[in-house]
Amino acid sequence: LDLKSRNTFGFDAKAELAFEITIAEQIPAVMQEIAAKKLPWRVLGGGSNVILPKVLPGATLLINIPGVEVIGSNLDITTIAVGSGVNWHEFVSWTLDHDFCGLENLALIPGTVGAAPIQNIGAYGTEVVEYIQMVEAFDTKEQRFVALSKQDCCFAYRNSYFKQQPNRFIVSKVVFDIPKQWQPRIQYADLAKQFLHNSSPTAKDIFSAVCAIRTQKLPDPKLIGNAGSFFQNPIVPNEQYETLILKHPELISYPDTDNQRKLAAGWLIDQCGLKGQRMGNVGVYENQALVLVNHGGGTAQDILGLAKCIQDAVHGKFGVKLEIEPNIF
Ligand code: EPU
Repeated sequence: LDLKSRNTFGFDAKAELAFEITIAEQIPAVMQEIAAKKLPWRVLGGGSNVILPKVLPGATLLINIPGVEVIGSNLDITTIAVGSGVNWHEFVSWTLDHDFCGLENLALIPGTVGAAPIQNIGAYGTEVVEYIQMVEAFDTKEQRFVALSKQDCCFAYRNSYFKQQPNRFIVSKVVFDIPKQWQPRIQYADLAKQFLHNSSPTAKDIFSAVCAIRTQKLPDPKLIGNAGSFFQNPIVPNEQYETLILKHPELISYPDTDNQRKLAAGWLIDQCGLKGQRMGNVGVYENQALVLVNHGGGTAQDILGLAKCIQDAVHGKFGVKLEIEPNIF
């Protein structure tokens, strides 16, 4: 199966064997077959956070499990169960159309609902962890479906139990708790700028503002291949931060835990003069240095080569190690 249109980098990739999953109940039998044939396997959701090789050996599971359903409501909370194959942005839009507010800061993030908990997607001051009640997944180790509570999922910045145990869980459903009490979150610099003259925006106003910012800063994968942020924002000990800020007073950073600080990787890369640079068919996006792009005809090898150059440059100038964010298959 051709995967060129199923990975947002637009790399030429083929799956040796593909299984389309449209209901959770298919998963146990498919995994039994894969185990019996001793095939390597992996899950592909929206393909928006992956680096694919030319050929994916063994089995590739394409998760297309649909469904959005309100399963509970009390004075404080609306509970919504969502199939893991549902497009994330379509789900966010659906919640706002039904006046369930809270996910608006996460508008326009590419990918599926099932992928959202894996790396705990976040943007503009909100992380999905805050709205997750539980995640249902098939545990290939125990050969059964499990329901993991928010605590079980060990969420952290761009991290979770699922990410720490690769190739173990296949997410089939995510249950969200959306509080009925709502407050706008517009403290994030880019967003605050949009609301200088409107201190009480609605959730739909924020949704529109986030869509506008993302459209301006991040390339549309339909036009130019990319996987959003290519590196995580690095977290460094306070001592290292103190040394860095003395040398680079303009350094951009955010509070993290008491003894560490999160640095803006995009700024570090930009300072190395790499924004807009090209290396063959791939390059650093001209409007946001944290995004690597495929100008057409690029491969996983090209992008990893470019990533290595960027990591070396940033390490050379700042002594900071950048970690790649998308999954490398
Ligand atoms: N910056 C530069 N030059 C650049 C890029 C950024 O100087 O080329 C500076 C910006 O001016 C800003 C700071 O670096 O002061 C941070 O940039 P920005 O606000 O654009 O956000 P980011 O840290 O680059 C993170 C997430 C994004 C998310 C935005 C908004 C990570 C790895 N990335 O990016 O997530 O949309 O914040 O919340 O945490 C993604 O994960 O794919 C993604 C797009």
